[in-house]
Amino acid sequence: MSAGDPSRVGSYHIHTWGCQMNVHDSEKLAGVLEREGYVPATSEDDADVILLNTCSIREKASEKVFSELGRLRRLKRTNSNMLLGVCGCVAQQEGENIYKRAPYVDLVIGPRAIDSIGPALASIRDGGRGALRVTDTEYRSDSIRFPFDEIRRIGESRAKAFVTIIEGCNHRCTYCIVPTTRGREVYRPMADVLQEVRVLARKSVVEIEFLGQTVNAYRDSEGNTLAELLTATAAIDGIRRIRFTTSHPAQMTERLMDAMAAAQPTVCAYLHLPVQSGSSRVLRAMRRGYDRETYLAKIEALRSRIPGMLFGTDIIVGFPGETEDDFLQTITLLDEVQFDTVYSFAYSPRPGTRALELDDDLPPAGKHERLQRLQEHQKGIQAARMATWLGRSVEVLVEGRSKRNEERWTGRTVESRVVNFVGDSAPGRLEWVEITETTPFSLAGRVRASDLDRRRLAPI
Ligand code: 5AD
Ligand code: SF4
Repeated sequence: MSAGDPSRVGSYHIHTWGCQMNVHDSEKLAGVLEREGYVPATSEDDADVILLNTCSIREKASEKVFSELGRLRRLKRTNSNMLLGVCGCVAQQEGENIYKRAPYVDLVIGPRAIDSIGPALASIRDGGRGALRVTDTEYRSDSIRFPFDEIRRIGESRAKAFVTIIEGCNHRCTYCIVPTTRGREVYRPMADVLQEVRVLARKSVVEIEFLGQTVNAYRDSEGNTLAELLTATAAIDGIRRIRFTTSHPAQMTERLMDAMAAAQPTVCAYLHLPVQSGSSRVLRAMRRGYDRETYLAKIEALRSRIPGMLFGTDIIVGFPGETEDDFLQTITLLDEVQFDTVYSFAYSPRPGTRALELDDDLPPAGKHERLQRLQEHQKGIQAARMATWLGRSVEVLVEGRSKRNEERWTGRTVESRVVNFVGDSAPGRLEWVEITETTPFSLAGRVRASDLDRRRLAPI
């Protein structure tokens, strides 16, 4: 810890795994720490506090945390002042076990208790108390607004902000650990959400992404749903793009689809709609609450309202009892829908879930073989779809420098296509970019005009 500045409590470094909710939770953790006087560490090696914001959705993600802790233990030996905390879903799931497996951990904080981080660190430092665990399953009454607090760090571009509107999940998909780690749904009043969006818009944020495990289950006590929220947000001055994730197909109502269509082009023409499987039999065993036909009908209903809309999805292969025929139905669903983004996973048994009771006769190697076949197949679909962007000019919201190549900028189109490009630009700008190359996963191009003369150019 540096001595000179009395307001400086120490420095922090956060590792983040998992979904968008976790990325945003890390922004909130950073926001809370900075409010307490902490500053971002220049490197992990000299951080006073290291937090692991963890994910437990699949076993691999959980296990990674423990190998990472092993590495940090060595770092802690060289920096005895350092405090090590485990946050997020693994903290919730494992609780006390974390101290058994990694006794050098100072702090375990579940996703519903991240606002406790400041006082918890202070009490460890002041009292020199041993390990502390806060894994409340309900939000604490003195901080009832969390996780909807406005304290956060906005990313590099400062042009985009995530806003949580619903937390938790009331579904009970038989493979999923989320309802256990994140608890039941809680909703933020629409008036609060809109107030926050107005403040963000005044700070020149142009893109808002509403977040929730089942974001389209949103409702508040006044009877507002996501449909009303989208309509009202689109009317706020300065807001150019609205996204929301993750949606549940069963809650993709006509009313919501109509609101999305009416708010074009501000509501982005891309939707992440996890299907999980193309087999109605497997969907029933997963308790997803829809079948193949219903899912396809929802895609059709959206495409007819919003022509040119793109879709992304999540797939689980090798769910207990999935036959080769079930698997092939997932492949034909990919062909039918023509998704532009697919996140696919081999089924991973999770503690406390109903799917553990089902017979599972396909060994992990068989599941991985299906996963590879599916990914190869989808790569072909995406290669063809992405190739159609060649030569087009697209509006890109610039996020920052590309991580892979510092000379390139990176950002996204309205349809959530990643675009890496060269030319004069800056984070937060909306840029017209001409596409000169495509891969199955991203587009590449060059700036067609700077922000200033952009208005003179019409999109192609
Ligand atoms: N095994 C494999 N994948 C899973 N997912 C959720 N639970 C599991 C599991 N037990 C996937 C789903 C979900 C995504 C976030 O993770 O596809 O949509
Ligand atoms: Fe998990 Fe299903 Fe809830 Fe999504 S909807 S978080 S998959 S239980």
